[in-house]
Amino acid sequence: MAPQIYKGLKDVYLDTTTASFIDGQEGKLLYRGYNIHDLAEKSTFEEVVYLLLNGKLPTRRELSSFDATLRANRRIPDEVIQVLDLVKASHPMDALRTGISALSAFDPDVNDNSPEATLRKGIRLTAMGPTLVAAHHRLRQGLEPVAPNADLNHAGNFLYMLFGEMPDEETVKLLDVDFILHAEHGANASAFGARVTASTLSDLHSAVVTGVGVLKGPWHGGAAEEVMKMAEDIGQPENAEEYCRKILESGGRIMGFGHRVYKAEDPRARHLRERSKALGEKVGQPKWFQILTYVEENVMVPYRKKGIFVNVDFFAGSIYYLLGIPDDLFIPIFALGRIPGWTLQCLEQYKDNILIRPLLEYTGPMDLQYVPISQRR
Ligand code: CMC
Repeated sequence: MAPQIYKGLKDVYLDTTTASFIDGQEGKLLYRGYNIHDLAEKSTFEEVVYLLLNGKLPTRRELSSFDATLRANRRIPDEVIQVLDLVKASHPMDALRTGISALSAFDPDVNDNSPEATLRKGIRLTAMGPTLVAAHHRLRQGLEPVAPNADLNHAGNFLYMLFGEMPDEETVKLLDVDFILHAEHGANASAFGARVTASTLSDLHSAVVTGVGVLKGPWHGGAAEEVMKMAEDIGQPENAEEYCRKILESGGRIMGFGHRVYKAEDPRARHLRERSKALGEKVGQPKWFQILTYVEENVMVPYRKKGIFVNVDFFAGSIYYLLGIPDDLFIPIFALGRIPGWTLQCLEQYKDNILIRPLLEYTGPMDLQYVPISQRR
């Protein structure tokens, strides 16, 4: 009898988790039980990382000590900067993948998969990730990397290392919220990839490298980069209809729409929509928001019946763009926010491990006769 195939593992529960809860019909997302709307409006990325990795909100003292650990772990070895310099022509997402891999050579806990060591490594990778991305961005422009500044929070320090100047408070808060919204999201493709790696009892660096590789694709984190390219191609709101129609009629997809789990609006999109609008108005470039909302409120309305709404990536790109961040850094920024989520998924995987190894139904020919190469035609 032919086996039941769950193509793309759609709707398959692979394990239990206490990391995040997603109700795709309601458009609800909780991290460790806390609603993403509360976290986006009231929390900070540092607090959310603590919450994810420790399962509870920190006291003031716990947060201050945790934040100090993050700040103390931002520097990356000179050798890793040299590696980034060697790959400076690559896409920043490839450089991040290479950088994380290179960091493993200098991590004292690299092959220790105990919960304590995995947590330490996850905190270090969370802290060092922005330094990798910013250093590569500087190097590819022929500039010296900027050393981390321990006076700044996680988001502020990243912007400082990227641009070499002190960021303003509003920009820091925007990026802080963006990091919060991207921190964790259940068994999404990159977290699943990270879990597969962890399930072989490979180490956290390898799992995070897997996560980065999986996230890069345009059907996952790559969508943010593609959305802004689309907005630039559209140019003016009045061109949106025809531009999207051509894509849709040829069987293409509009990036930043649709989600495997959400069949209502992605709750994370709300926060980015509001911020994209406000930022566009503030910097005198409301056009991008107008283009995007035209696509959302006109072109894609019929798709709502199929459960296709905007996802987290739709407005994110416009915010980065308006902050002067180049398109190809959009996915690495998503990855920086997601490192704690990948870490937590790996901690859960190690805790009650089983090798993740599904089956494939073979549909090729059977029992063919092997013909020696000299007799093949
Ligand atoms: N534009 C147009 N049609 C779409 C879209 C879209 N963005 N997304 C799905 N559809 C259609 C798809 O063509 C299919 O139509 P039909 O039933 O006629 O063949 C139907 O909806 C179901 O699509 P599916 O591929 O079976 O659904 P899925 O759950 O596997 O897809 C997805 C999820 C994210 C891959 C898909 O919605 C997509 O490709 N979206 C665009 C890329 C994107 O924005 N990715 C970011 C995802 S959210 C953040 C993240 O994870 O990084």
